[in-house]
Amino acid sequence: MGSATHTLEAPLVLGIESSCDETAVAIVRGDRTIIAQAIASQEAEHAPYGGVVPEIAARAHAERVAPMVASVMAEAGLTLDDVDAIAATAGPGLIGGVMVGLVSAKALAMAAEKPLLAINHLEGHALSPRLADAGLAFPYLLLLVSGGHCQILGVDGVGQYRRLATTIDDALGEAFDKTAKLLRLGYPGGPAVERLAMQGNPKAVPLPRPLKGSAEPHFSFAGLKSAVLRAVDSGTHTPADIAASFQQAAVDCLLDRLELALDRAGPFPALVVAGGVAANHTVRAALEAFAARHAMRFTAPPLALCTDNAAMIAWAGCERLMTEGWRMGADFTGDSLDFVARPRWPLDPEATAVRGAGVKA
Ligand code: KG4
Ligand code: ZN
Repeated sequence: MGSATHTLEAPLVLGIESSCDETAVAIVRGDRTIIAQAIASQEAEHAPYGGVVPEIAARAHAERVAPMVASVMAEAGLTLDDVDAIAATAGPGLIGGVMVGLVSAKALAMAAEKPLLAINHLEGHALSPRLADAGLAFPYLLLLVSGGHCQILGVDGVGQYRRLATTIDDALGEAFDKTAKLLRLGYPGGPAVERLAMQGNPKAVPLPRPLKGSAEPHFSFAGLKSAVLRAVDSGTHTPADIAASFQQAAVDCLLDRLELALDRAGPFPALVVAGGVAANHTVRAALEAFAARHAMRFTAPPLALCTDNAAMIAWAGCERLMTEGWRMGADFTGDSLDFVARPRWPLDPEATAVRGAGVKA
């Protein structure tokens, strides 16, 4: 037995994340303790290309994941015997990377004779606020804004998600990244746009708010990106004003779409933001004010839990063990070792496909 003890009430789960450009491993206990974690960013490998190159990402995950599992286990003072399940992101994401993490988890699960938990990456983001905030109960309204996703979800319980909005073209993080590219700020773009925006006037550049006021409960950011391109080309605005105006337009779209989601599916006692864009302070402040106006509790996970990480995957595994696992008792065996990695995997299987949204989950 290692130094971290576990009980049925507070299981220990090893989690692996490898769906994009972060290789991450974590051990989390069901009482919300992150026992140990490691994260290796591939920023340097992808920076010369201005975006994530799937082949390079898969190779980097393959090189790193096994030594990272070993070092996290050692740091925790645990062996595989001590953990209750092995969780890994099984999609959606860049398929080569997802396969590396999932196959590693299968091998560990098989060797240790522990259940495999194939976790939806979006579910990791969706439940991560509950890892940080013990008082956050179901249901809640979730805004998931990352490089690959831009969705509003009603989270009714573990495994119970209603998709209330998604993007019909770009994700918001993608729009931040493209804006950064147009302003020659480099990669990753979100933090760079945010920094530059601090020196600009958010009202200086007239930019569109795509779908604002529309009864169609979705997001669209492609038109905003094109407007940013025109503003850059016009040469009449400073980069800081463009960055600040872009950020403001994005925030206005988020609030408008959230308002519609509340009208249609609300009320919800809490508003939660997750995904990489949740690291943006202007976005957070606007959401906090929105929640206050609607008498909703507001939760945003700490920044390290907003961007891709393995603690959220291990935590999603804990949540499954503490619901499904308890319900099924000894019959609970987790997911099949045949589970196939999924490049696309919508959280809400009943959500209808959205025009143009084929590239997003
Ligand atoms: O959740 P995440 O780490 O990876 C995905 O699953 O996509 O999100 C990464 C995205 C990138 O598009 C990045 O530019 C954006 O989150 N991002 C930000 C900020 N920090 C990260 N966007 C705006 N402001 C930020 N401070
Ligand atoms: Zn993510």
